[in-house]
Amino acid sequence: MDPQPLREKVAIVTGAARGIGYGIAHRFAVEGAEVVIADINAELGTEAAARIADETGRKTLAIRCDVANRASVDGMIAQTMEQLGRLDIMMANAGICPFVEFLELDVATWQKTIDVILTGSFNCGQAAARVMIEQGCGGRIIFTTSLATLSAGSSQVDYAAAKSGVKMLMATMAGALGKHDITVNAVAPGIIYTQMGAFHWDVSEHREAFAQTNPIGRLGEPSDIAAAATFLASQEADYITAATIRVDGGRMALG
Ligand SMILES: NC(=O)c1ccc[n+]([C@@H]2O[C@H](COP(=O)([O-])OP(=O)(O)OC[C@H]3O[C@@H](n4cnc5c(N)ncnc54)[C@H](O)[C@@H]3O)[C@@H](O)[C@H]2O)c1
Repeated sequence: MDPQPLREKVAIVTGAARGIGYGIAHRFAVEGAEVVIADINAELGTEAAARIADETGRKTLAIRCDVANRASVDGMIAQTMEQLGRLDIMMANAGICPFVEFLELDVATWQKTIDVILTGSFNCGQAAARVMIEQGCGGRIIFTTSLATLSAGSSQVDYAAAKSGVKMLMATMAGALGKHDITVNAVAPGIIYTQMGAFHWDVSEHREAFAQTNPIGRLGEPSDIAAAATFLASQEADYITAATIRVDGGRMALG
């Protein structure tokens, strides 16, 4: 195994100012990549980029980007090309989960979730693919999906629909891009301890109850997702496309 499998690669990680995206960006840098921290939260993104550069010695670049806005995504790609010279890995990770019960869910909230997760994934995936094809040396596109593509509660109707769309976006993009040596895959996290669900998981009874629902017996960490994403981004995963790696501590196996 290459000690630095992402050496000389340039990666964009969206939603990298905190949580899972931060964990992935940090790991990509450890593995040798130069990393763009792309996030709608510019202040947190700048801090994250500085911390990762400091801890890994790798070049990082913070770019404010709203993945739901195509002009913003195109600008992010252009700035990456201008300042880092190439793009090898697009990790389309940014997402939101408003947790609103189905009967209370209004159209604006529904639309926002679809815009950020589904349209955001399309924007990042297509814009990255165009640049990768132009470069002519293949590439890696990876989406963060969710177990919500398999089962979800009544407060995740918008989220589950959006993530399910990303699952098919991933598969159909893989079909379109294989001939360009671009692989397209997904990582589907189980329950990962981040700000997204902290309101629930900071309650110790909830954490303890959850421990009974997966064979590993703990909540996941961003580093668990980063490990799978790094594998998919590496040369080792050359023959893997249109695949989803479920990283859930085996939760789905227990029904
Ligand atoms: N935490 C979990 O248990 C879990 C489980 C399954 C899937 N996921 C998915 O993992 C991804 C990361 O989630 P997380 O838990 O780290 O959440 P988080 O809320 O901690 O981080 C999300 C990041 O995305 C950024 N972001 C939000 N909207 C954006 C936009 N329009 N453009 C650019 N950046 C934007 C936020 O500023 C934030 O930094 C999401 O796609 C989420 O749906 C999380």
